[in-house]
Amino acid sequence: MGKHIAIGITGGIAAYKTMYLIRLFKKNGYDVRVTATKNALQFVTPLTIETLSQNKLYTDMFDCHRTLEVEHISMAEWADALVVAPATANSVAKFAHGIADDALSTLYLAVKKPVFIAPAMNSNMFESSVVQENLSTLQQRGCHILLPNEGFLACGTTGNGRMEEPEEIFDAVDEFLTADHTLEGKRVLITAGPTYEPIDPVRFIGNHSSGLMGFCLAEAAARKGATVALVTGPSNCTARHRNIRRLDVKTAEEMYQQCMQLVEDQDIIIMSAAVADFTPATVAPEKIKKEMSQLSIDLVKTKDILASVGKIKRDNQLLVGFALETENERENAKKKLHNKNADLIVLNSLRTAGAGFRTATNQVTIFGKDGREFASELKSKQEIAREIIQTALKYIQ
Ligand code: CTP
Repeated sequence: MGKHIAIGITGGIAAYKTMYLIRLFKKNGYDVRVTATKNALQFVTPLTIETLSQNKLYTDMFDCHRTLEVEHISMAEWADALVVAPATANSVAKFAHGIADDALSTLYLAVKKPVFIAPAMNSNMFESSVVQENLSTLQQRGCHILLPNEGFLACGTTGNGRMEEPEEIFDAVDEFLTADHTLEGKRVLITAGPTYEPIDPVRFIGNHSSGLMGFCLAEAAARKGATVALVTGPSNCTARHRNIRRLDVKTAEEMYQQCMQLVEDQDIIIMSAAVADFTPATVAPEKIKKEMSQLSIDLVKTKDILASVGKIKRDNQLLVGFALETENERENAKKKLHNKNADLIVLNSLRTAGAGFRTATNQVTIFGKDGREFASELKSKQEIAREIIQTALKYIQ
């Protein structure tokens, strides 16, 4: 069976590069069907698209001359993945909010397969908070965002907003769709997200973690064939892969109990959750009223899950921790590596722009207990997750 790719083109100058992308897919044996918005056809012609894809272009939902199939539904079922390149700010906003007013946005809603989005726009537009929020929403729903590059932009400026190169887009999609069995038969436990420590029936102590890094790790491990247990605190992220079993918890204690039940059977354990270090000593049974002039809450320490696993783990189990630091990053990370008896520790610095909480990107340094060190560039959390899993693989073979 051949591989099927649906490509969506929206109205940006980078649409001309999508012609190379179509060629790349065709050259590598993919069957390609394209849908383009009206604005996209200001930049590229139907003739070019149809000649390169060797298929009829789909643009008009109400075209009387088409076949009797409902095109966006049949195309959604036919495709193994949807790639939107370039994705304008407008199309990203429409996808994020479920607006379906043309062929592509309707197709997007109907697709249940992996979706890759390659934004391209002016750098100010790309950096605007609403575009970032929309991209982050899409990412949390499981879309793969192929971040734009720095470079010369068509508006005459240089900046961040140039569409990812066709070769890179092709590689990301092709790598995703090509099965990889490196972790077949392995069990991986991953913790993700924040924990919520209740104060009373209404309030809790929490933190800014979205859980995205942990979900990306689960996806990256599952795609290599691992059976993944994802123990997550409250998070809006979605786990799409069938190899991922999601186990929802709220508090640090619940996360500890859930992990302890599972740990025995695991080959790799990755603790990326932002677990609360302290929890209220008692939970008020009723809502605390504001009548008193001052309120203090007694906090007690939670159990350190990573350190607890470090104490009982077997030699053939690989334990990966995270260290979130704001100062003396390297020293503190290495201390955690040894004190908690982990095999690898992933350092996240909150001082790096574009890394940390509620961002689509991250930059990490991984320290091995054998003294080796691996530094990443600033990349999407999905790419960072793949690098972490790749590094973990070096230690289990
Ligand atoms: N961790 C854990 N259980 C806790 C606290 C942390 O399993 N109760 C894990 C995290 O998932 C992470 C690692 O420990 O993998 C380090 O977390 P971090 O918040 O950086 O450090 P702490 O150990 O909490 O130390 P500190 O807050 O003093 O930096």
